[in-house]
Amino acid sequence: MSTTFRTAVVRTPGGPDSIEIIDVPIVEPGPGQVRVEIAGAAVNPVDLAVAAGVFHGRGLINQPHHTGLGWDFAGTVTAAGPDVDLSVGSRVAGLVDGFDRDFGTYAEQLVVSANDTALVPGGLDLATAATVPLNSLAAAQLVDLLGDGEGRSLLVTGAAGAVGGYVISLAQDRGWRVTGLARTQDEEFVRSLGATFTTRATPGWDAVADGAALQEQGIALVRDGGLFVGVQPGAAPAEKRGITVRVVVTRPDGARLTQLLDATASGRLPARVHAVVPLDQVSSAHREVAKGGVRGRYVLQP
Ligand SMILES: NC(=O)c1ccc[n+]([C@@H]2O[C@H](COP(=O)([O-])OP(=O)(O)OC[C@H]3O[C@@H](n4cnc5c(N)ncnc54)[C@H](OP(=O)(O)O)[C@@H]3O)[C@@H](O)[C@H]2O)c1
Repeated sequence: MSTTFRTAVVRTPGGPDSIEIIDVPIVEPGPGQVRVEIAGAAVNPVDLAVAAGVFHGRGLINQPHHTGLGWDFAGTVTAAGPDVDLSVGSRVAGLVDGFDRDFGTYAEQLVVSANDTALVPGGLDLATAATVPLNSLAAAQLVDLLGDGEGRSLLVTGAAGAVGGYVISLAQDRGWRVTGLARTQDEEFVRSLGATFTTRATPGWDAVADGAALQEQGIALVRDGGLFVGVQPGAAPAEKRGITVRVVVTRPDGARLTQLLDATASGRLPARVHAVVPLDQVSSAHREVAKGGVRGRYVLQP
């Protein structure tokens, strides 16, 4: 039996071509942990930023040898440590957070806290499940920051993106009157989620959920005394005109993820896989995502 497994990392970050696949030793799960054989890991904008060295540049990553890539995963439990209820063979999905780590989900396997995982419902394939954790939890936690809408107007920027699409759905459940700002070709998708659609927003919204990370341009769309919720931790635009500014910092939450996976399986939340590609093609997948315009996620399959 092999004592190592393959994982994608960057040693010296420099964009897609700096990603390497290396062999690292297999780790046994400790108390409260499980080892997961990964079936799919989604490619997210944050991974492109890590590979480009954005967070190394901000002093948020300080790994001596290499930095792991990948936040989302879905797969099968192959070993469980002490004090874990999950059995071997369970299909789970989850999120690994934090920038500064030597491992990631772009890998054949992963050891993770069982509490950070959720069971994948029977009707959902693992590739689709791998696209759910980071961005649905980001949207759910962003909508927590919005609170109840009580009929007020909400503009979601980047409405055809992963976070934006989930925010449209979840914010309507909390009573917001939602309009999605997206590209012309995204109209059908945005309207299918029950939102009004626009390609050019004018100012005056009670709240803006900034899924496109427009930042200063996004806050300019909020009415005086309104609410802005951003997606760039550590880069909140300055408060002005009495606008409250909040920024979501997504955390793993296995219990909530269970609900979000169930909502995906039942069709209440959108399921959006762009393509499933072998882990070996990680650099080309990053290059494609960097061009923009990709809808749905690339899912890497080890
Ligand atoms: N804080 C957190 O914890 C957290 C968690 C998850 C994600 N995020 C961040 O949230 C952001 C969104 O993530 P995501 O996964 O949803 O990204 P995504 O799927 O790439 O979506 C972004 C969307 O915004 C669109 N867009 C960009 N500029 C636009 C503009 N001026 N007008 C209309 N649409 C525009 C993009 O369209 P094109 O592709 O056509 O450009 C794309 O559809 C990223 O910055 C990500 O890093 C933060």
